[in-house]
Amino acid sequence: MAKRHRLNKSIVYNDAPVTLQQKGTTLADDVIIVRESANLEGSVQVSGAKNSALKLMAASIIGCGKTTIGNVPLISDIAIMSDVLERLGATVERDGHELAIDTTDVNRFETPYELVTKMRASISVLGPLIARFGKAKVAMPGGCQIGARKIDMHLVGLQVLGVEFEVDHGYLVASTPHGLRGGHIFLDFPSVGATENTMMTACVAEGETIIDNAAREPEIEDLANMLNAMGAKIEGAGTSVVTIQGVPLESMHPCTHDTVGDRIEAGTFLVGGALMGGPVQVKGIDPSYLRMAIMKLEAMGCTVETTEDSVTVKREGPLQAVDIQTLPHPGFPTDLQAQFMLLATVAQGSSIITENVFENRFMFAAEITRMGADVTIDDHHAIVSGVSRLQGAPVEATDLRAGAALVLAGLAAEGETVVHKIQHIDRGYEDYVGKLVSLGGDVRRCAAHEGRRDQ
Ligand code: UD1
Repeated sequence: MAKRHRLNKSIVYNDAPVTLQQKGTTLADDVIIVRESANLEGSVQVSGAKNSALKLMAASIIGCGKTTIGNVPLISDIAIMSDVLERLGATVERDGHELAIDTTDVNRFETPYELVTKMRASISVLGPLIARFGKAKVAMPGGCQIGARKIDMHLVGLQVLGVEFEVDHGYLVASTPHGLRGGHIFLDFPSVGATENTMMTACVAEGETIIDNAAREPEIEDLANMLNAMGAKIEGAGTSVVTIQGVPLESMHPCTHDTVGDRIEAGTFLVGGALMGGPVQVKGIDPSYLRMAIMKLEAMGCTVETTEDSVTVKREGPLQAVDIQTLPHPGFPTDLQAQFMLLATVAQGSSIITENVFENRFMFAAEITRMGADVTIDDHHAIVSGVSRLQGAPVEATDLRAGAALVLAGLAAEGETVVHKIQHIDRGYEDYVGKLVSLGGDVRRCAAHEGRRDQ
């Protein structure tokens, strides 16, 4: 069996980080250089879903002992969650894409500010800590680049279950002086994080809990499947009404579970295929998770074929404009909004893209405009008029999805594009450059100073 590794930041990159550090630079200084490419063509295996694996890791806290999670992507957000768990007293070992998390010795209940600011999903340990220990102390996430991103619904859900909160110098301190009891929760909005935190705590609340207007993302279903394998009794996950029959904490135990495929990574490569012509096949994904994205690709002039666990896109004629509005699943995912905006920038006609899930999630528009795109923002609408050609330029990955879309843009743009701040891409895409190269993209990663020399 392969040697197990402690999970730390140095293992998450496939690009020999040691070499980069020896050159006196850091991974944060890396850039991705993209040159205009003829096509993207071939097949790519998608990794496990970031947004699922992070919550599965947090859920492991509830069952005392060693939980094994398979198909975990090698990305930096996973390393941060690993750090969060280790600060609590867990041990995390990696063997390829498998994580073994031993929560036997968890004896601290605090997630510090520095980790919550690095990754907002750190607050996913709130529900599991309360479930197992009846208490938790988690730094309050501030605003972030994609809007205010409050956690009020997380708190409302947990309060219904009997959790009391105090704010102490920027920390949220949770306690359960009267234990946990089931209740009926109506979420104002189907928040993914609030549904997950509430579901994880409700597993051990006495009696029945109903979460109404729950988020329906496939990652919620994945989490419920793992919790059920740990001894929970959850029904309806993946629909808007989730029902949980509480079980005693002692009957929750560790388990082995595989992470569902990443529909957003899959959607990103499909956009690559649609942009360049393809055919590009993504493997390891249930096509039903991408129904809305597939419909939009077809509306834009692409041909899409699916099997049980793959999707293939190709395009022969020009891309056509399309209107898109982001909505909670099964609506069009906000995490694919930037990638589809890229398609709209080179489509024939004008597209209107409406962002309904997050405020201020149009940072990509400013960068792609620097590459010659024609995008006008009007509140939460973007009006995109297709241009015949993008031009290569130095650009900045303002967030994870915008970063991935900028690299794709470089493939279709005239000349060379240098994408800076690619640590955002490392947060969520395993070996993004390697996968694009395997599809024929002219893409490479290097230290920023090497990139400058090349220009
Ligand atoms: C998760 C995903 C993120 C995705 C998003 C929507 C992870 C790690 N991240 O984020 O990639 O874009 O779902 O699919 O899984 N809101 C409140 N109060 C709350 C909670 C949320 O007002 O208590 C608002 C947010 O500000 C936002 C909207 O609800 O405008 C959606 O947020 P939510 O569904 O909770 O997203 P996250 O779980 O943060």
